[in-house]
Amino acid sequence: MTTTPGSGFFAGLLDPAHRANPYPLYARIREQGPVRLGQMPVVVLSSHRDCATVLRHRAAAVERHHASIPLGPTPVHDLAGDRVGELSGTTSMLFRDAPDHIRLRRLVAKAFTPAVVRGLEPRITALADAALDRAAERGELDVVADLAYPLPITVICELLGVPLDEEPLLRRWSMLLARSLDPISATATGGRPDPGEMVRANNELHDYFERLIRHRRARPGDDLLTALIAAEESGDALTHDELVSTCALLLIAGHETTVNLIANSVLTLLRHGHRHHLAILRTASAFAGPVIEESLRFDPPVQLVPRIARAPIALPGIEIAAGDLVVLLLAAANRDPAVFADPDRFDPARGDRHLAFGLGQHFCLGAPLARLEASVALTRFAQRVRDPRLADEQPPYRDHVTLRGPARLPLTFASITPLR
Ligand code: HEM
Repeated sequence: MTTTPGSGFFAGLLDPAHRANPYPLYARIREQGPVRLGQMPVVVLSSHRDCATVLRHRAAAVERHHASIPLGPTPVHDLAGDRVGELSGTTSMLFRDAPDHIRLRRLVAKAFTPAVVRGLEPRITALADAALDRAAERGELDVVADLAYPLPITVICELLGVPLDEEPLLRRWSMLLARSLDPISATATGGRPDPGEMVRANNELHDYFERLIRHRRARPGDDLLTALIAAEESGDALTHDELVSTCALLLIAGHETTVNLIANSVLTLLRHGHRHHLAILRTASAFAGPVIEESLRFDPPVQLVPRIARAPIALPGIEIAAGDLVVLLLAAANRDPAVFADPDRFDPARGDRHLAFGLGQHFCLGAPLARLEASVALTRFAQRVRDPRLADEQPPYRDHVTLRGPARLPLTFASITPLR
């Protein structure tokens, strides 16, 4: 155990007690400036300037072999330090540097052009309305389970060509694997699921996509999976392992994050002081854009991302050495008073200088889709749900550190307006 202030703050970050509101802790970490965790090759950055600089820096890599300490998600060790297995999936673009990163990203980028995403709007609207119709019938609405989850999971399953009746299987694997993005030391706090369980979930998800790919090879469809298989078959554009990893990445990135964006947005709007934004949304759907951008800044679904320095990086106040793991606290950067005046105030008029989707080469590929899904969900919610109130002012949070969001968000409401 190290005893520097940095390591104390970092332990706080992993502590479930801070999950519901980590922002006072982030403010303290940011005031400290860049910190090194004791003698470890781990640096935590929390200002907007430092995070943005590293995200754009040529020496900031994502491939884990550059690190001077062994890093998750592969291999996985239990608390006693014994190796329990490996998480595959690190051949996807998220964990690759150029030139492989560029090759893999280009293949998938075609599926997320603004035109393709715009074309999904009627389907997303129909899904949001169907979710609200079901809630109206039951007379109950948990924003997470009934709206925020079904929307993005259905969209990404339909894009990929995953049969929706298999979604419950995917939900469990995805939930476990989303936790593999948490900082390694989460293991030390006991805040992480059993590593063996994570390895099994990883293997089962990969076996699942292996089977689906075999099936789709025999019967091509009109989906992203078929397009990626064609790329794999056409030469060396995509190896089989990369194909499987890409499917797993898209499935997890395509919904675990957007669920949190929708839920965080509703939660913020229903907390005192922000209900008037809902009233505006009811009549002016264009207001959804600014509300979503501010929600991304104020309460980002991805709280941190890692980088590994493959060469020294000099920042004011700290020397990052080659091999250092650099933890970028995006959620702290998004409330940096040097960039955002009165940063703890929710203000949709601010614009989009936040880092919620990252920056540079790995900037979120699904950002246009996420923005559209959240804006449709929020607009339909505002237009159809009458007098929504939080049933619980302090809803429970999932354990996840990196992909942070409420576990449940039950509401009371007067009625849900039926569609004409
Ligand atoms: C609110 C929702 C979302 C948020 C906050 C979010 C956030 C992020 C962030 C911060 C990164 C950069 C990671 C890094 O730099 O290490 C990223 C990358 C990525 N995201 Fe998203 N994401 C969201 C939704 C989506 C959706 C809907 C999809 C796909 C359907 C998606 C697909 C991806 C992919 C493929 C990457 C990797 C890009 C690369 O490595 O070049 N994301 N996302």
